[in-house]
Amino acid sequence: MTKKALITGITGQDGSYLADYLLSLGYEVHGLVRRVALEAPETRFSRITHLLDRVTLHPTSLESYASIFHVFSKHDFDECYHLAAQSFVAESFADGFSTMNMNINGTHYVLAALRELRPRCRFYFAGSSEMFGNVNEVPQNESTSFQPRSPYGISKVAGFHLTRNYREAYGLFCVSGILFNHESPRRGFEFVTRKTTSTVARIKLGLANELRIGNLDAKRDWGHAKDYVRAMHAMLQQAQPDDFVIATGQTHSVREFCEIAFAEVDLDYREFVKVDERYYRPAEVDLLIGDASKARRVLGWEPTYTFRELVKEMVASDLAELRSESAGGDFSRKGAKVQSSTNHV
Ligand code: NAP
Ligand code: GDD
Repeated sequence: MTKKALITGITGQDGSYLADYLLSLGYEVHGLVRRVALEAPETRFSRITHLLDRVTLHPTSLESYASIFHVFSKHDFDECYHLAAQSFVAESFADGFSTMNMNINGTHYVLAALRELRPRCRFYFAGSSEMFGNVNEVPQNESTSFQPRSPYGISKVAGFHLTRNYREAYGLFCVSGILFNHESPRRGFEFVTRKTTSTVARIKLGLANELRIGNLDAKRDWGHAKDYVRAMHAMLQQAQPDDFVIATGQTHSVREFCEIAFAEVDLDYREFVKVDERYYRPAEVDLLIGDASKARRVLGWEPTYTFRELVKEMVASDLAELRSESAGGDFSRKGAKVQSSTNHV
């Protein structure tokens, strides 16, 4: 029988790859999207344009229990992947209140609606390595304590505990994936990887002359989003609900990322990267490196991309997009300077 899945955050990086993956497995895929006054599908749904005729989208507010309740009352989903969140850590310092409201209450509303209407539906929560924060052991695994260093990290710890509590208190099949950073050509422009590769492409094509960046010494365990959505699905296919760390087990600094990205287009990053205090965070997570041995053992999950392959693919994709836009004379969208109320982008 065809399985039916709901993805919140389907327009995001992970939601779009997960939709691709579930469709390839024969799922009927639904997505929650926020309603906006002016729909411009070519930009608003840019990551899922290629599958708009194969998914069902439900305009829904994740800030309203009634709105979520309505969708669950109409559809009997087998699996729910709750990915929607204010996901930019820097923004969470600028507006901790809306990050908390959305990330904590949104998760609580979905869980409460499931419990009320669809207790059989399996639930995935998008936990994060940001929950580890000021890490007290290296590498981090499922038993490492949480010491979050940002409102975003705190909101994810709350979501993790809500998910665990619904599992323990009400017997729902609810799991959290504790995912380390994962990137791709579909990554948002504000994150350091895409900011770097999109700017590298602009510099290469003579459209920019520098990359202004913050902490070059921060280290992250960076994987590819395509690999990570397979792990989300695998977690919901287990006999028992359980939480898993998903990571590559390797860490690299922002400096190394820049070095490789610039070298991809035969440039020396030291000539173009300018450290700018504006991009430093009030509190930083200096080092993240994950131990995904439980996922390897139980889920049979392995990453397939190396760090270099990831950087290479992102640079090549940004160059190709920019070249095709320059052929059409439109530089306005991809890799364009992103405006942010927070000044953190
Ligand atoms: P993303 O690209 O920023 O996508 C976020 C999604 O959430 C988008 O679909 C966005 O919709 C939606 N969203 C944000 N605020 C919303 C609101 N107020 N109401 C309704 N929808 C809202 O994030 P991602 O990289 O795909 O990450 C997916 C999830 O995994 C997030 O929960 C993130 O925190 C978590 N996570 C990500 C990573 C990573 O490295 N990528 C690692 C660990 C955990 P719009 O398109 O309408 O903005
Ligand atoms: N964004 C950004 N911009 N980050 C910068 C910059 C800059 O100009 N310069 C240095 N950095 C550093 C940040 O201080 C951080 O240490 C690191 O680069 C990565 O920043 P981001 O790419 O913004 O990602 P993140 O690690 O804060 O958060 C991402 O990964 C989490 C998993 O650990 C997001 O995807 C979160 O949603 C996710 O949970």
